[in-house]
Amino acid sequence: MTDDNVDADSGLGFEPAVNSGYEPLAAARSTASSSGAGRLAARRRGLRRKLTSAAVILGALVAVGGGYALLAPSSGAADTAVSAANVEQGRQLFETSCITCHGANLQGVTGRGPSLIGVGSAAVYFQVSTGRMPLTMQGAEAERKPAVFTEDQTQWIGAYVQSLGGGPQVPTGDLRGSSSNISAGGELFRLNCASCHNFAGKGAPLSAGKVAPSLNQATDSQIYAAMLSGPENMPVFSDNQITPDQKMAIINYIQNLKASKDPGGAGLDRIGPVSEGLLIWTVGLGVLMVAILWIGRKS
Ligand code: HEC
Ligand code: HEC
Repeated sequence: MTDDNVDADSGLGFEPAVNSGYEPLAAARSTASSSGAGRLAARRRGLRRKLTSAAVILGALVAVGGGYALLAPSSGAADTAVSAANVEQGRQLFETSCITCHGANLQGVTGRGPSLIGVGSAAVYFQVSTGRMPLTMQGAEAERKPAVFTEDQTQWIGAYVQSLGGGPQVPTGDLRGSSSNISAGGELFRLNCASCHNFAGKGAPLSAGKVAPSLNQATDSQIYAAMLSGPENMPVFSDNQITPDQKMAIINYIQNLKASKDPGGAGLDRIGPVSEGLLIWTVGLGVLMVAILWIGRKS
């Protein structure tokens, strides 16, 4: 776009017209018309053209910048700074949706919900952004549901709980680190997470009707928040146990695992190409046998 513009402006395309004050067309016009008014008009036209090209370049820059902002991977974390007004908005949301089970001072309500003192905005982010909270029904486990609150509202409630009770917070910005950490992340994942979530992160049942869910839907910030807050049966992985860098490596590994195709051929639960081949072989043979029998019956 900018290239076209430069060419159009220089007329002959031999000079970077944007920088040079020289305008071949305008100059030609001004010599053609001997009157001062004509020269003025030509100069205006030149100026207008310059302004237009500047506007086009500016527009292109804004478009490129805006496009980048849209396409750039967003962590979904608290990118926006939280103000006192946001804390107040968070308090209002808390008082309408959470207070009955968690109490006016986060102290918890016996038989309804635990204390939220010290859980931090990380736990709130995890619970609310995954739709687990506000809890509607007491079951074996709060399940992932579509979130009730927007990303902003979730941040506000988190800020409110944070302001009252303190606790761990999910960092903002990139939560994956460099791509070279994936294998280390895989190692950490197999050591710390695979026992419950399965080595491919597809989840697995635990005791007493509880489930370690699949990690397929979790965003970067949700995984980070899960490690910081340890929901339900999941242990808390504090920054002493797993450093922020290691957490990012784990996240990078999980998200990379999701993005990559099934390593074992077709999506048969990642049981591997050999067992899949065997399965296809037996099922295929079975189908063939049924077909043969059916044809035999017909004739
Ligand atoms: C109907 C009762 C109920 C409501 C309403 C409710 N919660 Fe909860 N909440 C619970 C129960 C029960 C648990 C513990 C169960 C669990 O951990 O899965 C819990 C757990 C949590 C936790 C995890 C605490 C921890 O130790 O990690 C957070 C954070 C939380 N709730 C935040 C909220 C927020 C924020 C709201 C409002 C948007 C809310 N809850 C609404 C009952 C409720
Ligand atoms: C002892 C078993 C256990 C271990 C070990 C464990 N988790 Fe979990 N994890 C759970 C359970 C149970 C839940 C569901 C909690 C709930 O629903 O409130 C869960 C939930 C999650 C979720 C939320 C998924 C979603 O989409 O809602 C994420 C993300 C997660 N775990 C990541 C991890 C990571 C990363 C590790 C290793 C650093 C790990 N977990 C280790 C048991 C475990």
